[in-house]
Amino acid sequence: MSSDSRKIVVTSALPYANGPIHIGHMLEYVQTDIWVRFQKLRGHECIYVCADDAHGTPIMLRAQAEGITPESLIERMQQEHLADFSDFGVDFDNYHSTHSPENQHYSELIYQRLKEAGHVRTEVISQAYDPKAEMFLPDRFIKGECPNCGKADQYGDNCENCGATYAPTDLINPVSVVTGETPIEKDSEQYFFKVSDFEDMLKKWTRAGHIQKEIANKMDEWLEDGLKDWDISRNAPYWGFEIPDAPGKYFYVWLDAPIGYLASFKNWCDHNDHNFDDYWQVDSEAELYHFIGKDIARFHTLFFPAMLHGAGFRRPSAVYCHGFLTVDGQKMSKSRGTFIMARTYLQHLNPEYLRYYFAAKLGPGVEDIDLSLDDFCARVNSDLVGKVVNIASRCAGFINKRFEGKLAASMSDDSLNQQYLDASSIIADAYENREFGKAMREIMALADRANQFIDEKQPWVGIKHEARHGEVHDVCTIGINCFRQLIILLKPVLPKLAEQAESFLNVNPLNWNDLGNHLLDHAVNRFKPLMTRIDRVYIDKMIEASKEAEAREKKITSQNRDSSIEAIDTEINYDDFAKLDFRIARIVEAKRVEKSDKLLQLTLDIGNETRNVFAGISGAYEPTTLEGKLTVMVANLAPRKMRFGISEGMVLAAGSGDKEIYILEPDEGAKPGMRVR
Ligand code: MSP
Ligand code: ZN
Repeated sequence: MSSDSRKIVVTSALPYANGPIHIGHMLEYVQTDIWVRFQKLRGHECIYVCADDAHGTPIMLRAQAEGITPESLIERMQQEHLADFSDFGVDFDNYHSTHSPENQHYSELIYQRLKEAGHVRTEVISQAYDPKAEMFLPDRFIKGECPNCGKADQYGDNCENCGATYAPTDLINPVSVVTGETPIEKDSEQYFFKVSDFEDMLKKWTRAGHIQKEIANKMDEWLEDGLKDWDISRNAPYWGFEIPDAPGKYFYVWLDAPIGYLASFKNWCDHNDHNFDDYWQVDSEAELYHFIGKDIARFHTLFFPAMLHGAGFRRPSAVYCHGFLTVDGQKMSKSRGTFIMARTYLQHLNPEYLRYYFAAKLGPGVEDIDLSLDDFCARVNSDLVGKVVNIASRCAGFINKRFEGKLAASMSDDSLNQQYLDASSIIADAYENREFGKAMREIMALADRANQFIDEKQPWVGIKHEARHGEVHDVCTIGINCFRQLIILLKPVLPKLAEQAESFLNVNPLNWNDLGNHLLDHAVNRFKPLMTRIDRVYIDKMIEASKEAEAREKKITSQNRDSSIEAIDTEINYDDFAKLDFRIARIVEAKRVEKSDKLLQLTLDIGNETRNVFAGISGAYEPTTLEGKLTVMVANLAPRKMRFGISEGMVLAAGSGDKEIYILEPDEGAKPGMRVR
């Protein structure tokens, strides 16, 4: 470690334990990971901690919907999240959970200290309550018609149609998402953190270089209006930490979530023999950075600094916000298949493609970042495969085959390598300032120079002339040394590629300091292709798979009023619907099918013809009771050959199967053969 070594703590936002990681999340974790890897490569102590955000109503309700305990849900989610992160090369020093003893300790400690200093007060307030579920409802669990534009099915906090924001009490015809009941208003006592006590401190702090300008301007809107006290308690039933001395009251998830940063760090300290206070006490010399999305800025730039300050802890050195990921210029969309889960991506594409693309697009600002799928494909192929890896593959073959795998003992000219070294300080500054896009452009410009150099020297021509072999050896040695420097410069972004390159180069793990050395008179290993081109086909397959994954996820997460009701499946368009030919059918005859305890054989009269249909309804109906009834059938389904005969259509019935089956009967007046539409 160099003498000017820094002590740095870095966090990413803690992902909610109620769902899987998607590539939008991944933008943040990759951004943070690149920055952390850069610091480590430079020889600094940089500790990257994170955790699952394991508390709150959505997690409680999802566990209920899955019929498992919240503990086992968060345990499973944590494993899945960690696997996703690790497969994307996101290398945390510690990954913990907010449902942990450390977090309970620091949440209680910070709360007690704030309370003792007079920053907590109570007040009886009225909130929406679901009388059937016997629980208070968060805004997101109330739906109704928008008070502004009238659009149905809008959440209790804002309208997706017109963008209006409002209180859940403003909704027209509100219903509880949990039970479908109309919520009532109910009084209860709640605990408030008096953020307003910290207004002066926050006004200064948000303008002292700790947060981006755009965010400071945004926070001003709240600061100017005067900060309202923040409700940090929730009533039972709630999934979280019970507030000490307040039975039946729990810390709101957003109170203990950021404290999870401290908890994860404490957990790391305990396993790595470090002193927690050195990093978190008020006069600590360590640097502390939080990487977050712009949607959660208020918690991190107002509430959290106030909590830390009020409880006698240091505040962050900086909070770095990033924008949101869009795909092909639009919000990630479930129906378009662009809501891509990390796991789905991993099943189709190399994670380093996306790490590179994110790096190429990321800057220090809060603008949204677009993943344009065509551009993604073109950029990765042209930059990584066409430029960087190409240098190695152009030179390695000759080194391996003609020079016994050995680099030359000297280089005739090291000016190219010197140019790389000279550019490295600009690139380092760009990494440090989170200008990753700029860093990638500089690096690719260097790669272009090496390729031009090889183009000019044409080693493939020289190799044909014995007398020019010395020159070819020289050119390839320079080329391989350029490649080695490029790998160092790209190592924060492409750790896997770097590892493979180090093994080809036959060297120990490279550091930033190694940029100044040359690799000479050194045996390299046999070259294997380090990275292949992206074929657009795999991207399209990933989009298709995302549509399917989404349909499965929807089944679990949709907050059903009744758990026996399945979620609405994949959307179809009108043309799909119009293809279905439903007809009124009279059940002329119904009989049991031998050797089948599920099927009834039905003879159906649909006006001009009769159909033979096998229906899986024998668990619910005595055959004779069906005879004479009218029902609805799909008449244009291709006939299907079954073990017992050919089935010429299907009858429509409701229910989950087995005993719970209800065939559909039309209202009086319907006649066999009538089309149903
Ligand atoms: N649990 C809270 C954070 C608590 S931090 C003390 C939370 N979780 S989250 O899972 O919804 O989001 C985790 C991080 O991912 C947030 O910083 C969020 O901004 C980021 N992103 C989620 N979707 C995103 C995109 N589509 N694009 C970029 N970042 C996104 O918020
Ligand atoms: Zn509206």
